[in-house]
Amino acid sequence: MTADIQVFAELEALLSPESVLRRDEPLTRRTTLRVGGPADFYVEPASEADLSSLIRFCAAQRLPWFLLGRGSNLLVRDGGIRGVVLCLAAPCFSRVEPLGDRLRCGAGARLKAVALEARRAGLANLEFLEGIPGSVGGALRMNAGAMGSSIFACVDRVRFMDSTGGVHERAASEIRVAYRECCLLKDHIALEAVLRGVPAPREAIEQRAQAFNQKRWSSQPAAPSAGCIFKNPGPIPAGRLIDELGLKGARVGGAVVSDVHANFIVNEGTATAQDVLRLIDLVKQHAKASRGIELETEVQIVGE
Ligand code: EPU
Repeated sequence: MTADIQVFAELEALLSPESVLRRDEPLTRRTTLRVGGPADFYVEPASEADLSSLIRFCAAQRLPWFLLGRGSNLLVRDGGIRGVVLCLAAPCFSRVEPLGDRLRCGAGARLKAVALEARRAGLANLEFLEGIPGSVGGALRMNAGAMGSSIFACVDRVRFMDSTGGVHERAASEIRVAYRECCLLKDHIALEAVLRGVPAPREAIEQRAQAFNQKRWSSQPAAPSAGCIFKNPGPIPAGRLIDELGLKGARVGGAVVSDVHANFIVNEGTATAQDVLRLIDLVKQHAKASRGIELETEVQIVGE
């Protein structure tokens, strides 16, 4: 406890007054699943300079850090997260600027804001981002996707910070990505990405966005969730598999396999992370026992 007070004082001295700094910050309301314990320290750096100082401080103090996006693909365990949870929510990380047929997007910007700006600029092919409830940084980290596309399909280049606080830029062609995976961003922090669109009439863009929205609202639950829990295994989409296993409505405490889409676990209001983890195990066991399929979680599971 005394050590925590000392670290907090050092963080306070290190960061500019515009940065947000808190102790024992509850993370429940910072994740869409609404479960999980607190972060020892929570920081929203006000600038790249503050972020860089913070990363160097953590390295020197051997203090672990974890980068929180919009918390939409995240399951925080009930004991919370030790060390620093940092979030690029400050305005300087959330800008979205048109550059001809491209958009320069801060890592903290919401994908919805990116899709709206693309529509305003008359740029197509970015409509699928609107329905993903995440930030640009989180989407890059996960190579998030929807409607048959994924974010790296339209990334031109990425600026990022390394674990010593240094800033680099890399063309997307030099970044290895796979389905729901970007290795570079497992230990580097995305700061900004330039996304490519395709000039098109605004009505066409709007129509496509509406069709995507309709598909999403009719096929995915509105209740609190972390999106799809499992990656789609090769042979069959996870949602169809779990549905065929008859597991819709399966429950542990307040965590329930959604009736709307079987690859979503929804929080009925009282779920703990433990409930969700037990339900994940139950689904995995059924898939393995009945079909010999090893389901792999897509949602990131962190904390103690
Ligand atoms: N299905 C069922 N029962 C269900 C759910 C789905 O039979 O309860 C069937 C559907 O009828 C369809 C197939 O399974 O034939 C695939 O379902 P869907 O079209 O909903 O797509 P998905 O593969 O389950 C993927 C992404 C979603 C993304 C949607 C929409 C993954 C794991 N999921 O879902 O991404 O929103 O496509 O494009 O790749 C996420 O990553 O968190 C996520 C929600």
